Amino acid sequence: MGDKHENGSATRRRRTTISGGASAKRANGSTPASGAEERCLRNGCGAANGGAKAREAEAPARKEKSGDAADERLSCHSLQESLLSSASGYSNYRGILNWCVVMLVLSNARLFLENLIKYGILVDPIQVISLFLKDPYSWPAPCLVIASNAFIMAALYTERRLSVGTISEATGTFLYFINLSVILCFPAATVLTVTSMTSVGGVFALGVYTIVFLKLYSYMDVNRWCREIRKAKARTLSRSHSCPSVSRANGAAAHALVTYPGNLTHRDMYYFMFAPTLCYELNFPRSSRIRKRFLLRRLFEMLFFTQLLVGLIQQWMVPTIQNSMKPFQDMDFSRMVERLLKLAVPNHFIWLVFFYWFFHSSMNFVAELMQFGDREFYRDWWNSETVTYFWANWNIPVHKWCLRHFYKPMLQRGVNKWVAQTAVFLVSAFFHEYLVSIPLKMFRLWAFMGMMAQIPLAWFVGRFLRGNYGNAAMWMSLIIGQPIAVLMYVHDYYVLHSSQAQGGERGVEL
Ligand SMILES: CC(C)(COP(=O)(O)OP(=O)(O)OC[C@H]1O[C@@H](n2cnc3c(N)ncnc32)[C@H](O)[C@@H]1OP(=O)(O)O)[C@@H](O)C(=O)NCCC(=O)NCCS
Repeated sequence: MGDKHENGSATRRRRTTISGGASAKRANGSTPASGAEERCLRNGCGAANGGAKAREAEAPARKEKSGDAADERLSCHSLQESLLSSASGYSNYRGILNWCVVMLVLSNARLFLENLIKYGILVDPIQVISLFLKDPYSWPAPCLVIASNAFIMAALYTERRLSVGTISEATGTFLYFINLSVILCFPAATVLTVTSMTSVGGVFALGVYTIVFLKLYSYMDVNRWCREIRKAKARTLSRSHSCPSVSRANGAAAHALVTYPGNLTHRDMYYFMFAPTLCYELNFPRSSRIRKRFLLRRLFEMLFFTQLLVGLIQQWMVPTIQNSMKPFQDMDFSRMVERLLKLAVPNHFIWLVFFYWFFHSSMNFVAELMQFGDREFYRDWWNSETVTYFWANWNIPVHKWCLRHFYKPMLQRGVNKWVAQTAVFLVSAFFHEYLVSIPLKMFRLWAFMGMMAQIPLAWFVGRFLRGNYGNAAMWMSLIIGQPIAVLMYVHDYYVLHSSQAQGGERGVEL
């Protein structure tokens, strides 16, 4: 009797440890053990995975089969954790993710319906044209864009002079300084003074000029590096070795390698100006052919997402913003927060659609058309666990430019990493403010402060939040931070223009 009891408890001990292992295996989502294997494990035969040991165990196991079946009926519990407790090691939440998507679709379908019932259809494609043009006979934004060619040519001819040594490096730097300063000041002055310029037209023109500024800065740096390398080579090698024969530049039909100063051609310059990058290279990686199906897919996406963006803005964003003005004027705090959270949803959708439209569809379309090989326009910013990871991964063209032409040169000069990062964010904040304040003709510094706030936010998230908490903080800053800035600008614009209108009316009365 005592013996029997001891054997029983030993078997139970074996069973609890082994079956615990089996269920842990199941819980992790790996292939469950076959029925025979699992029975074997539960009953303690141990080597269910095959091998000599298992074959040896098979014979007595068969003999004990009838006994085991009885044993199985007696016990139906094992030592195991609940799936939702972290100790279970369970990590397969695919169904929960699907549930989130279904809930998201359903709740937004309700919002969509509510919006339609309340406002009717507000989408008006004709109104989009009026955002770009005030007067059909005056096209200031496209004229400004065409004028940018003068600055591009100025950079090319400066480089040609520098390459043959007819002007010194100091003179070249001075000419670039003038050229780049005018690139920033001339369009800003035009946008501020030309009355037929709309705000959206102004953003478009200033956006093009900002891109030209960043590209020409990169062009200047790379050509200077080429001259430095050429000088260094000339010192060490014979003349015939240091100046290999010039080949075709970027943009030529055959993608032969080009060497400095063979790159200083109109074709190369305009290839760079249209290429989806801000960083110049003498020989960009090139794809072997244009994939027509890929191109058509991207084109279809561009058209579809443009419509979607217009629809979302006109139907959802504009009425929500209009409804938000009163709580902001009355300084009704609880209503302000409610409006802010209401605006956060369409604003975030628009941002996500814009991200896909611009960084995936449009950039890939242009790259495919130009056979531009480097398609890394974004990385997995959605998995960011820190703010710095987000800024280094969501907009790769800008990040690459910042690293190559600003951040790394500063670090190489011995500047402290934090100071260098702050300087990058300062420059980025300047350009954000430049692109918003000048077209709106209103200087409020909200965009500047929003960008600069990233530095303390990065420190806070890096110091106190990690993993999923860090990722949630990144999403929160995106979802809530942007509508705050949008509401601030819209509110100030509304207050400014309504007070101007009232002032005008009073002036007329007087
Ligand atoms: C500031 C910023 C450039 C920092 O980027 P980061 O990747 O976090 O910077 P890190 O310190 O990790 O270093 C980046 C690189 O510098 C290099 N580096 C670090 N210290 C260095 C040193 N002393 N000397 C030379 N290189 C150095 C690293 O090796 C790394 O190189 P790699 O990219 O080739 O691996 C980035 O956050 C940024 O781009 N911010 C602005 C983004 C922005 O405004 N975007 C606007 C979008 S609308």
